[in-house]
Amino acid sequence: MNLILLGPPGAGKGTQARRLMEAHGIPQLSTGDMLRAAVAAGTELGKMAKEVMDRGDLVSDEIIVGMIAERIGEPDCANGFILDGFPRSEAQAAALDAMLAESGLALDHVIEMKAVAAALVERIAGRYTCADCGAGYHDRFQTPRVEGVCDDCGGATFERRADDSEATVRSRLAVYHDQTSPLLPYYRAKGVLREIDGMAGIDDVTAQLDAVLAGENQAGRND
Ligand code: AP5
Ligand code: MG
Repeated sequence: MNLILLGPPGAGKGTQARRLMEAHGIPQLSTGDMLRAAVAAGTELGKMAKEVMDRGDLVSDEIIVGMIAERIGEPDCANGFILDGFPRSEAQAAALDAMLAESGLALDHVIEMKAVAAALVERIAGRYTCADCGAGYHDRFQTPRVEGVCDDCGGATFERRADDSEATVRSRLAVYHDQTSPLLPYYRAKGVLREIDGMAGIDDVTAQLDAVLAGENQAGRND
């Protein structure tokens, strides 16, 4: 199963991709996480990407497409993958189509996580993750069962993203609107777009995704 989670910053792509990964045993390919790993490692790519990410702009298509092409070729993607944060421009979507065609693969679903912009700033401002395993939390909406201890790995160190300031979130939302939302009609025209309500509670969103993947959510068909 090859799928794309498409939606604005804070829509819940990462939260749900981790759940899908566990439930379906296919990897989450998050270009944001790959870039943050490069930043943390201090590579040349990381240094360049940090500047762009701190502004809330998009890293160049060429770099991102190269990263994904390499990742999709790895053995753990043989049974499918969940794209989280890619593609994000028309050029990236075209490059993905070419990549998939070359490998004889197709997209099973492109799922739009619909969300109201006004709520996203609060979601992002309250977000933090476990520094050891990357599990995601929120000050109000998703707290660990034991305060200060990660549910998944027991880690006690948490971190917040450098690009989660209110000003950067606003530019990320504008970039989504200008450069990424044109992908919605692109995938709608291909007949693979489904939409779900990303404003529902986290478990409810998971249930909506399960219904789409089980082919039950024909009401969510948007083609
Ligand atoms: P990226 O890391 O992809 O960030 P993003 O798209 O801005 O999305 P987020 O990760 O902020 O949101 P999310 O949808 O994953 O939400 P989450 O599940 O965490 O990209 C970062 C940067 O990297 C970009 O700005 C760009 O510079 C660069 N980049 C990345 N990919 C690129 C590409 N393809 N091309 C070019 N540049 C690229 O949820 C948010 C919070 O809300 C969490 O705290 C969570 O607990 C909470 N939450 C989640 N769901 C719910 C819910 N249903 N109800 C209540 N709270 C919820
Ligand atoms: Mg994310």
